[in-house]
Amino acid sequence: MKALLALILLVQLPTHRAVPAASPPPLGCDDPESEAAAEVAVNYINAQSHHGYKFALNRIEKVRVLPQGPNNEILFLELDLLETTCPILSPTPLANCTVRSFTEHAVEGDCDVKLQNLNGKLSVLASKCHSHADSGEDVLQLCPDCPLLASLNNTEVLAAVTAALNDHNSKTPDAYLRLLEIGRARIQDQPVHMVSVEFAVAATNCTAEEAKANLEACQLLPEDQSNFGFCRAAMVTRPKEDLRVDCELYGHQPGVTFSHPGQDTSAGLVPSPGQGFTNHNLRVSHHSPVASESSSSEFPSSVLSAKSVAKRAAPEVAQHDKVPRPVGFALPPPPCPGKVRYFKI
Ligand SMILES: *[C@@H]1O[C@H](CO)[C@@H](O)[C@H](O)[C@H]1NC(C)=O
Ligand SMILES: *[C@@H]1O[C@H](CO)[C@@H](O)[C@H](O)[C@H]1NC(C)=O
Ligand SMILES: *[C@@H]1O[C@H](CO)[C@@H](O)[C@H](O)[C@H]1NC(C)=O
Repeated sequence: MKALLALILLVQLPTHRAVPAASPPPLGCDDPESEAAAEVAVNYINAQSHHGYKFALNRIEKVRVLPQGPNNEILFLELDLLETTCPILSPTPLANCTVRSFTEHAVEGDCDVKLQNLNGKLSVLASKCHSHADSGEDVLQLCPDCPLLASLNNTEVLAAVTAALNDHNSKTPDAYLRLLEIGRARIQDQPVHMVSVEFAVAATNCTAEEAKANLEACQLLPEDQSNFGFCRAAMVTRPKEDLRVDCELYGHQPGVTFSHPGQDTSAGLVPSPGQGFTNHNLRVSHHSPVASESSSSEFPSSVLSAKSVAKRAAPEVAQHDKVPRPVGFALPPPPCPGKVRYFKI
């Protein structure tokens, strides 16, 4: 019996040793570990961004894994994101945010993210993004009458925002609101000439009455009382004037701040309304100088323990089972890019 056991162990030994030597199958873009890493990355990117809207994952374009040692690896992700309708200061969780439709003139974000997976805990080490609106031609091809994004400093856009904010403030007795930034704007000419605008606002320490008396004295509330909000408005100028305004205040959200364009450190890449952009760029890059284990503490907001990630450290056998083996002439599906969650632009 003992001899048999020894024989079994002997037989098992070489195969057991052989496993770590074989290179693991490449991680697919739709594998649970890739998806868990992408979720951490998207949350991180939104947390770093202070302008425009939250972005949601559309597709994992590429994934690369660099093993560092036992239960420690570096992941490089290339992500395709889409703008949602949730303003960046909105308390709505990303999972509840709607991706803006293609016909509303979608904005896409491209991101490269470097993460560390240490004992199943994912943290972002560096990220680099840029965003751009879909081409107007693409939108018009599918929807010839759809209004396109207008420049945020367009005079008609600025006039509509001013009129909308004045209208709201004149009809609301409580907090007098100030403009923080214009989020997006579209102008259509048919069947009516209409300017649609969306803009972020913040409450001041004045009521409408106090603002009328002395507007200069109305300041944004201090950080520990800040109250941000968002307005959507449509101004029709032809054939008949009409103005619709809908503003919502979120209430104080501890820790949520708005950085003014002038004070932003990302040197001119975040446009203030007045620079000829149609959309806010995603905060461009964030990099940790030391890409080592200790650096994960520099990204405290995005550490997430992912069950699916821990699984990958389990026996390699599970790995091989996941990879579809070619049967006959059928080729396995390409592991990347992954599935499109919304639409491709
Ligand atoms: C988000 O959606 C979930 C599920 O639909 C819902 O239960 C929850 O109340 C929503 N949260 C917010 C803040 O809208
Ligand atoms: C708002 O704050 C400013 C600056 O602190 C102050 O001068 C002003 O009197 C305040 N206004 C009201 C109505 O409290
Ligand atoms: C908007 O900004 C661009 C770039 O700074 C400038 O060329 C253009 O004249 C501005 N348009 C308006 C209406 O102010």
